[in-house]
Amino acid sequence: MPRHRPELLDFFLTRRSRPAKTLVAPGPEEAELKLLLEAALRVPDHGKLEPWRLIVLQDAALNRLADLVRSLGPKAGLDAAKTEKQADAFARGVCVVAVVACPKASDKIPASEQRDSAAAACMSLLSTALATGWGANWLTGWAAHDRGFLTKGLDLAAGENLVGFIHIGTETTTPPERPRPDVAALTQWMDR
Ligand SMILES: Cc1cc2nc3c(=O)[nH]c(=O)nc-3n(C[C@H](O)[C@H](O)[C@H](O)COP(=O)(O)O)c2cc1C
Repeated sequence: MPRHRPELLDFFLTRRSRPAKTLVAPGPEEAELKLLLEAALRVPDHGKLEPWRLIVLQDAALNRLADLVRSLGPKAGLDAAKTEKQADAFARGVCVVAVVACPKASDKIPASEQRDSAAAACMSLLSTALATGWGANWLTGWAAHDRGFLTKGLDLAAGENLVGFIHIGTETTTPPERPRPDVAALTQWMDR
């Protein structure tokens, strides 16, 4: 049925994230990661505004962010277990790419569409990493929505938002398939 490269359709029909907590070192080396990022940012972008940017988090940066969660979480009302779960996601991270939405002033392109393009960049990086044999997972969590964390930890400007932390590493287990949507029930075919 596919016109060419049926393995690509097979990848998308079976694509499955790998839970971040099951990923271990090594992650991609710098040269390979740069290629993954180049592929990932080939996303639809209405008006060519490039309303996104990436922050590659590795090594000491991940420990620093874990410590920041431990200091800010309780003040933000997170209980001890939730704080540690959020901190642990950074502490055990191998390579984490933060995808930041940076809306640009535009009379034509609504901010929501610009954010959509940033989400597309997340999905694109997730797929690129999985397709090239890495384990990968798109997470957000409390930290992604806490302005204090985003400012202190990642130096985000006031108008910027965190759309996803894309964890990339070596997979240790293949998770079982999860329930998938009933595509027929969710699809309306309209021909008039
Ligand atoms: C915007 C966004 C944020 C997410 N944040 C989390 C999260 O913080 N924790 C989590 O366990 N899953 C989170 N997920 C879900 C996982 O990325 C993913 O849905 C799950 O691992 C199964 O993915 P798969 O369909 O690629 O196999 C998030 C998904 C999206 C789209």
